[in-house]
Amino acid sequence: MITMPFTLKPAKAEEFVNREELLGEMLSELSDSDSTVGYALYGRRRVGKTSVLKEIQRKLEESHGCVVVYFSVWGLIEYSVEEFCRKLSLEILEAYRKELGLKFRARELMEMPLSLLGKILEETELRVVYGEFEFLLSRKTPDDSGLLLEHCFGLSEKLAKATGRKCVLLLDEFPSVIDLKIENKKVGEGILKKIRTIFEDWEKTTLCISGSVRSTMDLTVLSAGSPFYRQLVAKEVKPLGIEHVRKLLRQNLKIPDESVEELYSFSAGIPFYVHFLGRMLERKSEKTPEVVRAMEKEFLAEEGNLLFREEFNSLGAGEKAIVMEIALGRNSPKEISASLGARVSNVNTFLNYLINKGYVARKEKGVYSLEDPVFGRWVRVILVGGENWGE
Ligand SMILES: Nc1ncnc2c1ncn2[C@@H]1O[C@H](COP(=O)(O)OP(=O)(O)OP(=O)(O)O)[C@@H](O)[C@H]1O
Ligand SMILES: [Mg+2]
Repeated sequence: MITMPFTLKPAKAEEFVNREELLGEMLSELSDSDSTVGYALYGRRRVGKTSVLKEIQRKLEESHGCVVVYFSVWGLIEYSVEEFCRKLSLEILEAYRKELGLKFRARELMEMPLSLLGKILEETELRVVYGEFEFLLSRKTPDDSGLLLEHCFGLSEKLAKATGRKCVLLLDEFPSVIDLKIENKKVGEGILKKIRTIFEDWEKTTLCISGSVRSTMDLTVLSAGSPFYRQLVAKEVKPLGIEHVRKLLRQNLKIPDESVEELYSFSAGIPFYVHFLGRMLERKSEKTPEVVRAMEKEFLAEEGNLLFREEFNSLGAGEKAIVMEIALGRNSPKEISASLGARVSNVNTFLNYLINKGYVARKEKGVYSLEDPVFGRWVRVILVGGENWGE
């Protein structure tokens, strides 16, 4: 029985492998106090996007040039625009607190009566953001979400100007802001344009975003018509190559080359799996490829169910059928439609849904594959079953 939690923390510092080129480029741009060029990181699930953001944060903070705020949209609970603005404002303020020598925590400030707050802010450089505070604290109507966003983001720009320290906002899973709600209704894509417009006027704040679902990243930055297309430099976070898989594994393990190769081929270089299986392997006395293969099977049966079952169940019936077909090795719409006895046009429709949801990639014209080969294995071995392991 595996007892470790299946969500692993993002890699930091000494554990971190690869990404030198990406980090180098981002760091030199982001640490330039006269640049507002930001980045949009995209990449499949579990490939290491959050880890890149956290590593950027660590390195930028080390050099003390700017103030860095990391914020994940997926960390919200109510998923309202109001909650987003309130929590992000708190984080921005907290990040500048040390800079300002403020002895109260941001949270404490937010809970103070306005009159007392006014007195405290008066004595610090924070007085420049009193207006933002007042607005955030005293709002009663929910229909002024545009203003709320302006005040929230205005906070970083004003604090950056007041302290002379550029603000770098790292917003993880950013495209999910379109799912934020105002009075229980989703705001939709309008919020992207709104934030873009606010961002246009910034001089001392830089935005870096990341997201995994291809369709929403398209909507946000990747396609020519999307709001942030010209403002953010898009960068794909790719799986690790075998040399980095080796390095990652050998940080904690003595492991023979053939076992590294086995793990590389199983994980396709997606660091989450490398990490997880590496941790499982720590407890085994032998680290032969046979032991690794047995462990992979154990991983799929136990962790795979936790990781993938829910995701799979969230798909529609047509999508499920197609995922199973591809997992079983049928890669073209023709083969799939023959196997399912469905029309090619229907198969194509579902393939497009799956591409937009980030499950399927088009390798070349008429050839499709699953984005995550471990998910594919799980579908083939655990869900469909009957297939010989290791085939
Ligand atoms: N460069 C790296 N070096 C070592 N380990 C890494 C690296 N990048 C990611 N990992 C490991 O992989 C796992 C997943 O990383 P992370 O959470 O950053 O991915 P993600 O792309 O943000 O995933 P999600 O799609 O779930 O948000 C973590 O356990 C992390 O420790
Ligand atoms: Mg992440």
